[in-house]
Amino acid sequence: MNLKGRHFLTLKDYTPEEIQYLIDFSAYLKEKKKKGQPVDELRGKNVALIFEKTSTRTRCSFEVAAHDLGMGTTYLDPSGSQIGKKESIADTARVLGRMYEGIEYRGFGQEIVEELARYAKVPVWNGLTNEYHPTQMIADLLTIQEHKGSLNGLNFVYMGDARYNMGNSLMIACSKMGLNFTACAPKAYFPNAELVKECESYAKASGSTIRLTEDTIEGTKEADIIYTDVWVSMGEPDEVWAERIRDLSPYQVNKKIMENAKPDAIFMHCLPAFHDLKTKIGEDISRKFGLTEMEVTNEVFESAQSVVFDEAENRMHSIKAVMAATLGMEMN
Ligand code: CP
Ligand code: NVA
Repeated sequence: MNLKGRHFLTLKDYTPEEIQYLIDFSAYLKEKKKKGQPVDELRGKNVALIFEKTSTRTRCSFEVAAHDLGMGTTYLDPSGSQIGKKESIADTARVLGRMYEGIEYRGFGQEIVEELARYAKVPVWNGLTNEYHPTQMIADLLTIQEHKGSLNGLNFVYMGDARYNMGNSLMIACSKMGLNFTACAPKAYFPNAELVKECESYAKASGSTIRLTEDTIEGTKEADIIYTDVWVSMGEPDEVWAERIRDLSPYQVNKKIMENAKPDAIFMHCLPAFHDLKTKIGEDISRKFGLTEMEVTNEVFESAQSVVFDEAENRMHSIKAVMAATLGMEMN
């Protein structure tokens, strides 16, 4: 499998075999790390990490992974560069492409990371846009494979805002890899029809199904995996909290939902999560709307079924695999 020189912008661009290779490469690098066997064949290379939105997992994963592989990193924070303000994306890409072997971009529209990729002449990795979060997908699929043994035929249910980066990306990842995907959400929060149609063709090829439902009991019956994400994403205005709480509260992942799924179902969340009042936003929302937990209850988040920290750890191993593969390293 040769992925050298490829961008990583959305899983739409990758075949199921290539996605499986990246999952297996992640597992291989994870095992090497656990055994204390260094894999640092990319010594002397450097990567630029552009973050126009904040991050804990993605930034730390890119930094640690690059360091482990022997590479240097430059972190450009939301205010620390000229990007988009004094310098166009195309010019930025041509400058960074002369200095770095790869560029990560986290920000707003998918068209921005696509423009970077068009001009950079080095691999560009999407660290999250409004539309997609592809590095999260490799970590999530690895986590599912670790807990369930394989991917094919599993019932995956996404609850909440299914029309944003996580809902979109999970529908693509599941339909390509043979997991039956259900978006369980109010109709207005279903993924857009064009993407659903595209994913239906992936599902047909992998022998899986796609279902959109408003019914939480019907939707989560027989689920192997229940997944949710925040109700308001980065970059969205505070004004939308009221409507999201009104519309998405019935889709909270709680004990009743987990009990309706298979007895051995796992709970997943890309994190960060609002499951208690130990955050500033959580406290503000509690004061304004009287909620103490949002998309997931603390009980489910802290339960034995919750694999969220395995998932978070796997961000690092999978981001390492994405960089290594696209920079020309092979699994051996
Ligand atoms: N899951 C995820 O992307 O986390 P960060 O926003 O902390 O990077
Ligand atoms: N939907 C969330 C995902 C965070 C990892 C956001 O865009 O803020």
